[in-house]
Amino acid sequence: MAEQKTLDDLFLDTLKDIYYAERQIVKTLPKMAKAATASELKAGFEQHLSESEGHVERLEQVFELLGKTPRGKTCDAILGIIEEGKSIMEEFKGTPALDAGLVSAAQAVEHYEIARYGTLKSWAELLGLKQAVALFDATLKEEIATDKKLSQVALGAVNKQAA
Ligand SMILES: [Fe+2]
Ligand SMILES: [Fe+2]
Repeated sequence: MAEQKTLDDLFLDTLKDIYYAERQIVKTLPKMAKAATASELKAGFEQHLSESEGHVERLEQVFELLGKTPRGKTCDAILGIIEEGKSIMEEFKGTPALDAGLVSAAQAVEHYEIARYGTLKSWAELLGLKQAVALFDATLKEEIATDKKLSQVALGAVNKQAA
């Protein structure tokens, strides 16, 4: 018979996935800030870098609540999304479309995070992990705000410049 796995196992697995992803994002955002040409976009990436460092810390707090050592698990999805972002940076370097490409890559990252944190928050509710719910919710709000801000940047100068 297959090993009996529960929602607790799935929760921990997914926590490791997003922990890995957030640390990759922290490594990538400075490169995106450096590549961005619009000052608004550059500043946005820098701001989200410091927020993302906070996301890593909140995840470490959740591991602590569970009595576990923080550990990541390779997340192929984020690696793929980041890889696409890198291709855009290389292929559109020096062109007016670069910033629009950076916004689109960043929004893919935010949507991945929103999906993960939304799921983790619901599971934490089911598992009665009240403090974890609050931590996920705080991060989720920042990811949603970042996504909205990116849309505004895209609708403003960036897409017009690219067209
Ligand atoms: Fe994040
Ligand atoms: Fe994010």
